[in-house]
Amino acid sequence: MRTQVGIVGAGPAGLLLSHLLHLQGVESVVLEARSRDYVEQRVRAGVLEQNTVDLLRQAGVGDRMDREGLVHHGIELRFGGRGHRIAMTELTGGRSITVYGQQEVVKDLIRARLDVGGQLEFEAGAVSLHGLDGDTPTIRYRHGAEDGELVCDVVAGCDGFHGVARGAVPDGVLTVYERQYPFAWLGILAEVAPSTEELIYCSHDRGFALHSMRSPKLTRLYLQVAPDEAIDGWPDERIWAELRTRFATDDGFTLADGPVVDKGITPMRSFVVEPMRHGRLFLAGDAAHIVPPTGAKGMNLAVNDVRVLAEALAAWYRSGSTELLDGYSATCLRRVWRSQHFSWWMTSMLHRFPDDDGFQRRLQLSQLAYTTTSEAAARSLAENYVGLAQV
Ligand code: FAD
Ligand code: PHB
Repeated sequence: MRTQVGIVGAGPAGLLLSHLLHLQGVESVVLEARSRDYVEQRVRAGVLEQNTVDLLRQAGVGDRMDREGLVHHGIELRFGGRGHRIAMTELTGGRSITVYGQQEVVKDLIRARLDVGGQLEFEAGAVSLHGLDGDTPTIRYRHGAEDGELVCDVVAGCDGFHGVARGAVPDGVLTVYERQYPFAWLGILAEVAPSTEELIYCSHDRGFALHSMRSPKLTRLYLQVAPDEAIDGWPDERIWAELRTRFATDDGFTLADGPVVDKGITPMRSFVVEPMRHGRLFLAGDAAHIVPPTGAKGMNLAVNDVRVLAEALAAWYRSGSTELLDGYSATCLRRVWRSQHFSWWMTSMLHRFPDDDGFQRRLQLSQLAYTTTSEAAARSLAENYVGLAQV
């Protein structure tokens, strides 16, 4: 097979890149290791920042998001048994977030690609990348029992944190910056109406908890747990009891429970490779960087990377100029590091760290009190959370 841009991975980054390139008249093939059903059902991110919403709309894939997404104008920080609202829209000159599941974005993008005959190869896992230093890089992949080869002008590594693209870069080229956190998130999806209209980020002496949602009938909840925690140790009743304890308020908040339809544990890390390019390989999304989910930035960063990459590739095909491609890594990394800082800051403020003493806990509570009472501090959180227009 031959194409202009060979894309590894049909997550939000790979699919959106393929769609944006199509709008600019550039052809691509997407290779995805998993089945279509698997990628459409995988429960992950839920918060789209303003830039992401604007881009999906402009790209003509925002109709269902506009009908079904929940637009939120604030979030709650809960600590010391009380809730404190951050009025995001008021503090940011009218910006907001939209709660709309990542797998819904993925479904909308797959539909948009297939509607115009876009080439998406499911259950076609890339095995190795070759010729990245030359003009015709190739991707070797395995489709069922068959081996295939995709010859391209450029390869986009959109294959997530555990993919093969990053590993295809020769040793010594990439610098890794990394932080591990001494905890994980246990996440559930439950068939019950949300107990709150806005997201609740809760810092409790027993650990962090997050109340999110997917629709008026589906609630998404997370609990901070130990990093090596086994899911078997958390029967549903234990999860609900711990959630009720952490979310409890002095004025009698009640958490409605219901059947748990999805359950999983996610480790937390911060990770960046620099640069996000080697020769004709461009890394985008989780293949190049991971943030802890506390700032809700991972998918939004993936979207920003491919926005920049699609523009740069389109300019190259149009005019032969490599200027935007040459700036790809530096342009993306500015927003990556802003989001890294914000995600690390939110994570540090809201979670219990095993080594923390009373001094550290009091610092966290003071930071939370300041963030929710100083307009300047609240605005700083709000503008990062809804997504800065420019970085
Ligand atoms: P992925 O979604 O990981 O997609 C990569 C794709 O590549 C996958 O489909 C994979 O199957 C495929 N692949 C892998 N290897 C190969 C191969 N060798 N060949 C072919 N295909 C391959 N982000 C937010 O913005 N907001 C949130 O609220 C948020 N919450 C989160 C909550 C949780 C519990 C988790 C786990 C993540 C959350 N994130 C959030 C992060 C977000 O889900 C990721 O940042 C996002 O999925 C990145 O998209 P991607 O396309 O780069 O990678
Ligand atoms: C989610 O709804 O899955 C979600 C929301 C906010 C976060 C992380 C995840 O910070």
